Amino acid sequence: GYGRPDSQEDYEQISYEDAMGKTWGKNGEKPYRHAAHAMIYAPDGKKLWDMYENKAVILMMMRFDGYIGFPGGIMDDGETVEFGLNRELEEEIGLDPTRHSFTKEDHVLSYVTHNKRLLLHFYCKKVTLEECLEIEKRTIDADEYGWEVLGPIRVPMFTLNDNERGLPIFLSNKFIGNAKEELLYCIEKENIMTKEEIQVALENCEKFKA
Ligand code: GTP
Ligand code: MN
Ligand code: MN
Ligand code: MN
Ligand code: MN
Ligand code: MN
Repeated sequence: GYGRPDSQEDYEQISYEDAMGKTWGKNGEKPYRHAAHAMIYAPDGKKLWDMYENKAVILMMMRFDGYIGFPGGIMDDGETVEFGLNRELEEEIGLDPTRHSFTKEDHVLSYVTHNKRLLLHFYCKKVTLEECLEIEKRTIDADEYGWEVLGPIRVPMFTLNDNERGLPIFLSNKFIGNAKEELLYCIEKENIMTKEEIQVALENCEKFKA
């Protein structure tokens, strides 16, 4: 993985089947809950000052608690994970479920955290640049805008010549749960950047922090 989460919790990666296939927590204890969050992105290529190619538009958000994270949330009683994810995305970023609906096919990673008694599921979907900009525009009309969500954030997918500004400094923010690891995992898996390029950005992020 790409380092520990900022909040020092006990996230352990598990399979979707293991997360879904059994009842977590002993009888009489507070049951574990499922939560799901999602990354929506589009390939880009736009050049900042004719110099730095932005590799993708990746949508994250500023949460009410000051952490950066992905939209999504905890399932209500009786909801399937994908149904609950689509509901949370409509609430938090105004995503139109008739146009962009997440399914099992979009699942990427699952984790369990025993401290928080949560099963966390992460999804990723590629859309066209035009769709991505439309989705981003709708976020400020969402029900939760100004409450759970304080604003959409684009990840700077470039690094300036000083090797700090851009992605490395962005990565020095505080991320909720495993959101930073999920972001970097998807950047690699979706071939937006290579593993080596991501490592360089992380190393430069560490240098900047020191
Ligand atoms: P309420 O409706 O107020 O309960 O919030 P919510 O349902 O929108 O829940 P939230 O999005 O805050 O997610 C619940 C928990 O999941 C958080 O407390 C974090 O522990 C975790 N979480 C939130 N965002 C992310 C994320 O992007 N990635 C990961 N891995 N975990 C997250
Ligand atoms: Mn200017
Ligand atoms: Mn929510
Ligand atoms: Mn949420
Ligand atoms: Mn919720
Ligand atoms: Mn809520």
